[in-house]
Formats: sequence, structure tokens, C-alpha cells
Amino acid sequence: MILVTGATGNYGSKAIAFLLKKGITATNIAVLVRSEENYQDLVEQGVDIRIGDYSDVDSMVKAFKGVDKLLLVSSNDRGPIENRTKHHINAITAAKKANVKHIVYTSFVRKDGHKNSAISGFQNSHVESENFLKESGINYTILQNGIYQEMILAFVGDKVAETGTILFPAQDGNASWVLREELAEAAVNVITTQGHENKTYKLTNNVSVGFGQIATDISETLGKEVSYISPEVETFKAILEKAGVPEMYINMFIMWGTAVAEGMMDLEDDSLESLLERKPTSVNQFIRKIYG
Ligand SMILES: NC(=O)c1ccc[n+]([C@@H]2O[C@H](COP(=O)([O-])OP(=O)(O)OC[C@H]3O[C@@H](n4cnc5c(N)ncnc54)[C@H](OP(=O)(O)O)[C@@H]3O)[C@@H](O)[C@H]2O)c1
Repeated sequence: MILVTGATGNYGSKAIAFLLKKGITATNIAVLVRSEENYQDLVEQGVDIRIGDYSDVDSMVKAFKGVDKLLLVSSNDRGPIENRTKHHINAITAAKKANVKHIVYTSFVRKDGHKNSAISGFQNSHVESENFLKESGINYTILQNGIYQEMILAFVGDKVAETGTILFPAQDGNASWVLREELAEAAVNVITTQGHENKTYKLTNNVSVGFGQIATDISETLGKEVSYISPEVETFKAILEKAGVPEMYINMFIMWGTAVAEGMMDLEDDSLESLLERKPTSVNQFIRKIYG
């Protein structure tokens, strides 16, 4: 039995779809959901629905009963970052109690210098979670996922076709953007095949791309000039505040923009290509699909 957590989310739902596509029968797939309300799609797919919450170890011990392999999708808790670490530790603790044999954990890609980067909080949380998993004695596979291509859309903004401008403080930084559903597909390939025990994979694209190139790609796709401006962080903040963007989002944009500027996701690796057995979708292909 394989259990997928975060089953109502973007990544988890894709992973379930890929498991079914690979021929794993719905009766051999369990999913963790935390609310009795939002899982109608999963009911229709016939998978075994288990109720549990990352903040409640006992609920997960019960939910993980009879599970051999666990795809542990990292928490998206919006509170202090320590909440996420606690969630992961709780899930691993529950898996151990429930005698789960193998955990595949979705981490985040990192490079030297991450401790002093804009995303040090996220990185520290993943390092702590990975270490706890390694020390648990359970077989593990750590998937250090690259930054989602879907995040480009949030950073570029939904009015880019009208304004003709990308305003984002990423300077000339590049990032190795990956399609979320291909990360989910790679995870399914890992969890359904042998030989991935106690390994860590950096799942990035083959080529890193910055916002100058992203602006060029969008321009060509739209047939309209789009320029990229990287303002000073304080200027960017003032513009967003004036536009009424909530503080939480302003801080998030600044954090990711600075991390791209620092080159924290600028890392090219072919592990994703190997796991997919094809080249990952490029940023250019992604942009053509979205804006074409
Ligand atoms: N690599 C990247 O660029 C990147 C970007 C963003 C996020 N991430 C990480 O990747 C993860 C998966 O991405 P995603 O796009 O699928 O995120 P998502 O759509 O926000 O899904 C998150 C999932 O986690 C579940 N969850 C949250 N808190 C929980 C709790 N306390 N107990 C049990 N389940 C809980 C949510 O359940 P509900 O439906 O009940 O809320 C949802 O199913 C995120 O959670 C985040 O850690 C990575």
C-alpha cells in the first residue's frame, strides 16, 4: 500500500493521478486528507481515504496503518516556519510507529550558502526534517525539488500582457525552474520502482533561466514587447504597498526575488531527466503553453 499526503493539493493530486496511470490499482493507494469536506474527487477515484493532520501524530499513526511506502508531501503551513518542521517530524514519527517501510520526502533544492540566503528559514526546516528522517532508521528517498515553473506566473503577475512589464527584484539571477507535475511524476517513478532507498536527488531542470529571458520568451509568445525591470527591494515594496498588496505576499515576493538574485535555485542537474526518461519541460515550453 502506498499513501500520498497532501492529497488535496496541487502536487499530491498529480502524484495520485500518475500512480493510477502507472497501473497501481486504487485499492493499493491510500491518501491523507485533513478535512472531511474537500475530497470528493478522491472518492470518485476510488482510493482509500484516511483522515489525519500533520499536527496530530496519533491521527497519522491510525491513518498510516498497513502502509508500506509513504509519499510525504512537505507542509505548506503559513505560520512560523517551525510549524512545518514539526509537521514533518510528526509525520515521520507516526510512520515509524505505524511500521512504514519507506518514506519519500519532498524537500527543496539547496546550494552552499543557503544558511545566509533569503530562504534560510525554509532551508533550515528542510535540513532539520531530512536529518530527522535519516536518523529515523526508515528507508528514505529525499527529493530536493527545484522551484516550480508555476511560481513564475505569480512573480510575473497576471496583468503582464496589458502592462508589458515584469517588475520583480531578482536582478540577473537565474533559477532552474521545473514543472510541478513532472516533479510529482518523478516521485511516482521513485516510489514504484526499486533502487532508490537512502538516496537524495536534486530535481532541477537542465538549464537555469532568469527574468530577462522570461521577458523575451513572453514577448515572443504574446507578439508584444515585455520588458523586465528589477527594482531595489525598498522601491518594489513601496510599489506593492501602494497597490494594496497584503504584507504577507509582499514579504513572500521579496524573499523569492532575493533568493533568485542570490542564485540560490541556480543549479542544473540531470536527475529529473533520468527519472522522467525524457527532458523536463523547459521554461520556454511552459511560457508558450501558458501565454500562447
Ligand atoms: N518547489 C517549489 O517551488 C514549491 C513551491 C510552493 C510550495 N512547495 C512545497 O511543496 C508542497 C506541495 O506543493 P503544492 O503546490 O501541492 O502545495 P498545496 O497545493 O498548497 O498543497 C499542500 C497540501 O498539504 C496539505 N496540508 C497542509 N497542512 C496540512 C496539515 N496540517 N495536515 C495534513 N495535510 C496538510 C494541504 O491540505 P488541505 O487541502 O487540507 O489544506 C494540501 O493538500 C507545499 O506544501 C510546500 O511545502 C514547493
